[in-house]
Amino acid sequence: MKALCWTGINKLTVENVDEPTILNPSDAIVKVTLSASCGSDLHLLGGYVPGMRAGDILGHEFMGEIVAVGSGVQQRQVGDRVVVCSFLSCGSCWYCLNDLTSLCDNTNPHPGLGEGLFGASTGGCFGYSQITGGFAGSHAEYIRVPHIDTGAFLIPDGVTDEQAVFASDAVPTGWMGADLGGVKPGDVVAVWGAGGVGQMAARAAMLLGAEKVIVIDRLPERLEQVRTVIGAETLDYSDGHVMAELRERTGGRGPDVAIEAVGMEAHSERPDYLYDKVKTALKLETDRPTAVREAIMAARKGGSVFVLGVFGGFVDKFPLGAVMNKGLTLRSGQQHGHRYIPMLLERIAAGEIETGHLATHVMPLAEAPRGYEMFKTKEDGCVRAVFRP
Ligand SMILES: NC(=O)c1ccc[n+]([C@@H]2O[C@H](COP(=O)([O-])OP(=O)(O)OC[C@H]3O[C@@H](n4cnc5c(N)ncnc54)[C@H](O)[C@@H]3O)[C@@H](O)[C@H]2O)c1
Ligand SMILES: [Zn+2]
Ligand SMILES: [Zn+2]
Repeated sequence: MKALCWTGINKLTVENVDEPTILNPSDAIVKVTLSASCGSDLHLLGGYVPGMRAGDILGHEFMGEIVAVGSGVQQRQVGDRVVVCSFLSCGSCWYCLNDLTSLCDNTNPHPGLGEGLFGASTGGCFGYSQITGGFAGSHAEYIRVPHIDTGAFLIPDGVTDEQAVFASDAVPTGWMGADLGGVKPGDVVAVWGAGGVGQMAARAAMLLGAEKVIVIDRLPERLEQVRTVIGAETLDYSDGHVMAELRERTGGRGPDVAIEAVGMEAHSERPDYLYDKVKTALKLETDRPTAVREAIMAARKGGSVFVLGVFGGFVDKFPLGAVMNKGLTLRSGQQHGHRYIPMLLERIAAGEIETGHLATHVMPLAEAPRGYEMFKTKEDGCVRAVFRP
């Protein structure tokens, strides 16, 4: 079968690989209908996440049809049209039973890397390097899905493929940022980043009752989507007045909840960006936390900051003094999608969450290298390149 493989830093090729087979009783094979690019893939592409091996198949945001199931599968069957959570959950460990499924203790067969870097490993994730288990990704004709009973969700009739695919990753990630970030009715929420994740965080904040939601980015097409599809306010950070503007729009206090949906490759016009660029080039720092710093500085006293953006290592000039002295709550995490996806699919079906507009560029899998180039450079207003194998 055809699959999109990472073959080196910034090198992607479509290759012929073996079709997956059932390995364990809880497995299923899914024929992929749509598989999307995600901001997290850019960190892999650029070589910022350790543990990539030449030949690894990329892709973790996907939906498709079940074509084979293992002998232990009970809830799902051949023919089911499903969206699959990008993270794997065994459904029975302490973390899975406590709704912290991306921290599953049983789905990452390579915990050593995470233990060394983070003190403990994350759960498994499709197509996301050895550090999350080395699972083959979804940018392929077929994919093996371990624990299909817990990880795959039936797509309601009336929800299109282009809408459903984002319930795998971007929608639950955004929802988690607003939910675990503690958004309450009446809150003012600021979201850094107007990609798929930031837009979904903004929509979640609105649905959780936020009075005002402000999304910060510099890309005009994305800010336009935020205003017209999501229905939130926008702020262009290239003007260089994010802090002052947020104060102005929040009665001088700052946002109650600040959600960072940018990640380790943040861009900025501020001096700390240059500092991070030099330090990362010299390998004295691994990530560029520009937007996290700004979110911490902007949040109101006693407010909360949720970091949805992916970070892999160690950062400098972290404003811990602001966290401490302003009494902030700082939280983060890979998405615990299993707890949210059924509810989110219902909301998509009911028209409360619009997602189809994120699929700006749908193309055959053979064109995926070009799709990633467009997604990386944000060419032609690309928000997500989506592949149809
Ligand atoms: N926590 C999770 O489980 C999870 C899941 C999916 C994605 N992510 C992460 O979320 C982040 C966003 O993902 P995405 O798919 O939306 O990515 P994306 O690349 O499509 O969007 C990122 C956006 O951030 C903007 N940006 C860059 N610097 C900025 C700054 N200083 N201030 C404000 N905006 C800035 C960019 O212009 C871009 O529009 C990535 O780091 C991704 O890895 C995390
Ligand atoms: Zn993702
Ligand atoms: Zn588990």
